[in-house]
Amino acid sequence: MKEKVCLVTGANRGIGKATALGLALRGATVIIHCRNRQLGETAREEIVAKTGNAAIEVMVADLASLEAVRRLAEAVQRRHATLHVLVNNAGLAKRRHTLTEDGFETTFAVNHLAPLLLTNLLLDILKGSAPARIVNLASMVHRWGRISFHDLMGQRHYSMGRAYNQSKLANVLFTYELARRLDGTGVAANCVHPGMVVSDLGREYTGFMGLIANKLWRPFMRSPERGAETVIYLASSPEVAGVTGKYFANRRAVRSSRASHDPALAQRLWEVSERLTGLA
Ligand SMILES: NC(=O)c1ccc[n+]([C@@H]2O[C@H](COP(=O)([O-])OP(=O)(O)OC[C@H]3O[C@@H](n4cnc5c(N)ncnc54)[C@H](OP(=O)(O)O)[C@@H]3O)[C@@H](O)[C@H]2O)c1
Repeated sequence: MKEKVCLVTGANRGIGKATALGLALRGATVIIHCRNRQLGETAREEIVAKTGNAAIEVMVADLASLEAVRRLAEAVQRRHATLHVLVNNAGLAKRRHTLTEDGFETTFAVNHLAPLLLTNLLLDILKGSAPARIVNLASMVHRWGRISFHDLMGQRHYSMGRAYNQSKLANVLFTYELARRLDGTGVAANCVHPGMVVSDLGREYTGFMGLIANKLWRPFMRSPERGAETVIYLASSPEVAGVTGKYFANRRAVRSSRASHDPALAQRLWEVSERLTGLA
C-alpha cells in the first residue's frame, strides 16, 4: 500500500481505528477522520507508535452536518492529489429520535446520507487515482431493515433498531447502486459485515438490551482488529482487485438480503438521498 492514500471515517476507535492501523502497517498514507480532534490525535499517536508509519493525519468533521461533510471532502482534495481508498466506517445507533442541524434523523444522516455525500464529492479524485476502492461498513442486520419512504426520518415511528437497520440496508443498496454507476471507471465499491464486534456502537443501549449487547454477548464477539480484517482485505488485497458491487463477510462475497438486490429500490433511495443532500 506504499504510495496509496486512504481515508477512513470514524477512525479514532473501534473497527475504524483497527482498519486505519492495518492500512498504516501496510505502508499507506492514512487520513484518520474523527469528530473530536483530541481523540483523533490520540489515535494517530497510537498508530504511528505501533506501525512506525508517520504518514498518518487527522481530519475533523461531524458527519451529522452536511456542511461539515462538504468541508471534509474539500480538505481531502486540498491536501492530496490522489485518493485510492475510501472506507466509510463511521456510524452510530441513537436510542432516542434526534434531528441533525439539517433536520434529518441522526442515524439516517450519519450512517447513510453522510457517506453518500462524501463519496459523491470524492468521486473525481477517486476516479483520477484509479484503480481505487470504496468500502462501506454495512451489517447483517440490514436483513431486518426496511426503507420507509413514507417515514424516512422516523417522525411517525422511531426505535433504535428500526432506524439502525434501515440505515444498514441503505448502506448495501447504496453500495450496489454506486458500483453500477462506477462500472468501467476503475473504482470498485463493496460493503462489509464485520461480524459482531466489541465496540462502543452499543453505548446508548440501556436496560435489557444493554445487558445483552454490552455484557452477555461480549464473550462471543470479535475484537475490533478481527472485525477490521475483511475491511482491510477489501481495501488492500490484490485478491479482490476488480471485484465490485459485492457484500462481504469473513473475506468472502456472500448474498445479501432480497430487498438489497432490488435495483428500483436502490435507484429510488439514491434519488431521494441526492435531493436531501443537495447533490441533485
Ligand atoms: N460493532 C459491531 O458489531 C458492528 C457490526 C456491524 C456493523 N458495524 C458497523 O461498523 C462501523 C464502525 O462501528 P464500531 O462498531 O467500530 O463503532 P464505534 O466503536 O462506536 O465507532 C464508531 C466511529 O464512528 C464515529 N462517529 C459516530 N458518529 C459520528 C459523527 N456524527 N461524525 C463523525 N464520526 C462519527 C465515532 O466517533 P466518536 O468516537 O466521536 O463517537 C467512532 O469513531 C459502523 O458503521 C457500524 O454500523 C459494527
